[in-house]
Amino acid sequence: MIDSEKSVTPAVLDVMARAPDARLREIMDSFIRHLHAFARETRLSEGEFEQGIDFLNRIGQATNDSHNEGVLFGDITGLSTLVCLINNGDAGATETAAALLGPFWRMHSPPTENGGSIVRSETPGPALFARVQVVDPVGAPIAGVEVDVWHASPVGMYDIQDDAQVAMNMRGKFITDADGWFWFRSVKPAGYPIPTHGPSGELLRAQLRHPLRPAHLHFLCYKTGHKTLISQVFVADDPHIESDVVFGVTKPLLGDYVRRDDAPPAPDVTTPWFSLQHRLVMEPGEASLPAPPVK
Ligand code: BEZ
Ligand code: FE
Repeated sequence: MIDSEKSVTPAVLDVMARAPDARLREIMDSFIRHLHAFARETRLSEGEFEQGIDFLNRIGQATNDSHNEGVLFGDITGLSTLVCLINNGDAGATETAAALLGPFWRMHSPPTENGGSIVRSETPGPALFARVQVVDPVGAPIAGVEVDVWHASPVGMYDIQDDAQVAMNMRGKFITDADGWFWFRSVKPAGYPIPTHGPSGELLRAQLRHPLRPAHLHFLCYKTGHKTLISQVFVADDPHIESDVVFGVTKPLLGDYVRRDDAPPAPDVTTPWFSLQHRLVMEPGEASLPAPPVK
């Protein structure tokens, strides 16, 4: 029988140890030990406990088909990046092109020929021509990789947040050629604020944190026999490159976006335009797709 504060934790660990699934046992054992230690360390008050439960409930209530508050919370607390770096780069041993997925990846991006544009409705901003090569860890090109590309419009919103954009604006699915390359046209991405109407925004305001992400493109590379690579490529001179609200920037993710004042590659392009050449390294492993955070 529980006779004091001290005997609660062993009692809970004891019942959790009876779960038949070994991984569930391991996770819940660690979770309970850390959760109880957190309450002890902070001397959590009853009011604060209520506030925490309310916060958790509101994360769920704010989540719907077009908004994922749970992912946002994982992102602003650094947990998403931590889990990413634990699980990529040879389990954290080496540099990796992997980055957090974020709450805006959608399944079924429109298949697009190499060289095609992902600007599907009127979108401001200088033209961007990107060429990206997908290689394995020894630098050998990987042909036939399915690559989803997505990014926010320079007005600061994804298609799913903005009635002024057609569905799937700034999204496309490409296939790498025999030398591992895919290439496309878009507009240069700009920095933008993450959604702050929910509990995550409340937390940011209470901590006097800005809500901004530095400008970036997202990639998801999928091919059987390779670990699915989720990556981002950042504009290195963005003013918020050192203070990404979701802790997503690492050195291998800095992109070489070059301002170009020479003759543009298409007649409807004005100068200046931008080019980007980048390389993404896929590790060996299993191909699997994440659960889409939004529909
Ligand atoms: C994104 O880059 O799409 C993103 C990542 C984390 C939170 C919000 C947005
Ligand atoms: Fe983004």
